[in-house]
Amino acid sequence: MRKIPVIIDTDPGIDDAVAIISLAGNDKVDIKAITTTHGNVGLEGTTRNALCLRELLDIDCIVSKGAAKPMIVSLKEASSVHGENGMAGYEMENPTKRVSDKAAWDVMYEIAKEENGELTLVVLGPMTNVALTILKYPDFFKYVKRIYMMGGSRDFGNHSQNAEFNIWGDPHACQVVLTSGIPITMADMGFGQEMSLTGAEIKEIYGSAKKLKPLTQAFLKHDIEWHERMCERIGQEIDFDSSDIIIYDATASVALLLDGESLVTEDCTVVCETQGSETEGQTVFDMKGHLKMKPNVQLAITMDREKYKRLLKSAFEHFE
Ligand code: RIB
Ligand code: CA
Repeated sequence: MRKIPVIIDTDPGIDDAVAIISLAGNDKVDIKAITTTHGNVGLEGTTRNALCLRELLDIDCIVSKGAAKPMIVSLKEASSVHGENGMAGYEMENPTKRVSDKAAWDVMYEIAKEENGELTLVVLGPMTNVALTILKYPDFFKYVKRIYMMGGSRDFGNHSQNAEFNIWGDPHACQVVLTSGIPITMADMGFGQEMSLTGAEIKEIYGSAKKLKPLTQAFLKHDIEWHERMCERIGQEIDFDSSDIIIYDATASVALLLDGESLVTEDCTVVCETQGSETEGQTVFDMKGHLKMKPNVQLAITMDREKYKRLLKSAFEHFE
């Protein structure tokens, strides 16, 4: 069976790293490139993290830098969630291999043409790079088989009342992608909540990758500290092992692996709010056809939880 050619567009980020591991440790996928964007931390930080992860995971692919800021809105960042360096404070060894001289949008287009319509994009951060590729290369949409994106929310947001961070990070880019005609599977926050794991399951998955121990220990420590702060805030003692942990980006990468198997989706019409003073970045789900638009997204609803967990664990075991 031919491997699925994939480009991961990402802002590593802790959950980005888990998503990258889930694909690097799965023999169904051939990672052609990792393209980096602004997002959790600035472009220099996300690019360094991508270069380090490529070497740590021994991924035979190029790393290419993309956009340092959004198309129109102000630059956002989430170091409060992922740590100043985006990797929960863990400093990976300096990369020995360089970043590509080509920009992300040129790499995406070149590989899409080479793969002649078979290329899948896994988009895990603000969608600026994908939008710029669409705008620079009008026929790009013809050569992308599907986008699996982590982004949006059918309900409340996380970094603003109504908006999920990746979309809030570049709402205009999201709208360009949503209206591009490229098939999209959307793993929004609702899907992330549906696919939450327990602290005990996280420990089991992270603990399966002996070679990645310092990194996964930093991630686990980060999750436990995050959990302890949440307990303090709500004034409740909840055992970490039975708590709900969401690895948002990994739900999008594993949705690719389980599509056609146990992934359940629903056709939806989704647009992105780019004008609202309080609602900028909100993904608006037109459930009743008011916008008179054809469905443009397959919204991920659920997937087999045991398979999700098993795919993550087997990918981590690949690095024992
Ligand atoms: O809202 C979650 C998303 O924002 C994830 O992609 C996480 O890495 C951050 O970028
Ligand atoms: Ca991300």
